[in-house]
Amino acid sequence: MSSTTTTTATQAIEASTAKLSLAFDAEIHKDYKYTHYLPVYDEETAFPPLQPFEFNDRGLVADKTYRNLLSPDNASLKATKLTPPIGTEIRGLQLSELDDRQKDELALLLAERGVVIFRDQDFKDIGADRQKEFARYFGPLHIHPTGSHAKDNLEILNIYQGPDNEYNGLRLQNRLTSTNYHSDVSYERQTPGITILTLLSVPPTGGDTAWASQTTAYARLSQPIKTLLEGLRAEHSGFPQAESATKGGKFVRRQPIKTEHPIVRIHPATGQKALYVNPGFTTRIVGLKDEESDALLKLLFKHITKGQDFQVRVKWEEGTVALWDNRITAHTAIKDYDVHNPQEGARHGIRLTSLAEKPIGVNGLTSQW
Ligand code: SIN
Repeated sequence: MSSTTTTTATQAIEASTAKLSLAFDAEIHKDYKYTHYLPVYDEETAFPPLQPFEFNDRGLVADKTYRNLLSPDNASLKATKLTPPIGTEIRGLQLSELDDRQKDELALLLAERGVVIFRDQDFKDIGADRQKEFARYFGPLHIHPTGSHAKDNLEILNIYQGPDNEYNGLRLQNRLTSTNYHSDVSYERQTPGITILTLLSVPPTGGDTAWASQTTAYARLSQPIKTLLEGLRAEHSGFPQAESATKGGKFVRRQPIKTEHPIVRIHPATGQKALYVNPGFTTRIVGLKDEESDALLKLLFKHITKGQDFQVRVKWEEGTVALWDNRITAHTAIKDYDVHNPQEGARHGIRLTSLAEKPIGVNGLTSQW
């Protein structure tokens, strides 16, 4: 699988003599096993807009019985539904050892269950190249327009909050809660499909992640509201994120865009409908008056964030890797730990995000920009 996007990114990386700024205190981490994944900012390498690419969902060719991924012959396998509508936990299977048929089935499982949590993984120790190769199986890798990343690996988005880097936490100072449900970079034209988040350092308590099922959120709506939403698009904007990065003195490596996506999208592998709006990036409903758009988005955001009966909250363990399908879920990090309290500590992870199709709406409604 290749794409113009990946090629352009690779060329830009190769061409650069990047100036790196470190977003951590090297002294604090001198004995840390994962220093090479600590956050840095390449402050020079800029990218042109993402280009269109052909996308084939791996879930479409998967064996629907899951006989390879969830083989009854694997005595150590334990797959448990975390809640009825969303989330499956898997033990006894290494992501790093999956063959292509198993990866296809994993793509389908993600399309059906939204989130799959793999425990006791060696994934964090297999090296950046193998991690990226694994993620790239599902689609071209996204390079975040503003986020910090691992050194020499712009595709590896850094998730770090510690006493020496509170950047993300500080942005939340004027809010009552850190909860921020979103679907990763939903302003992109071909939006993310599967995200893979690996924590390298887990706080002893706190720092969970929660996901909401957008298929169940859609299914719970009344028929008149479903019908209304199925004919509408909403605007998703990358501008606030870029503006906040600029304000924080960070480099914006790809100029922000706004995209109008169908509010109800259909997953290509399952045919299931899901709500595709999120408080993180959705700014308005196209074609409605301001008050109408505000009221409707407020209703939908409240519905998504309040619906604990279609959410799952996961506690990270040493070796946990979480995968989710952004087309049918919204998620939030839960920043409830105090980075200055050694009992609570720092949280460090790496995120790989693969891009998927341009959203497909109901009755042929497509995204526009
Ligand atoms: C994310 O928002 O993609 C990261 C979630 C987390 O850090 O738990």
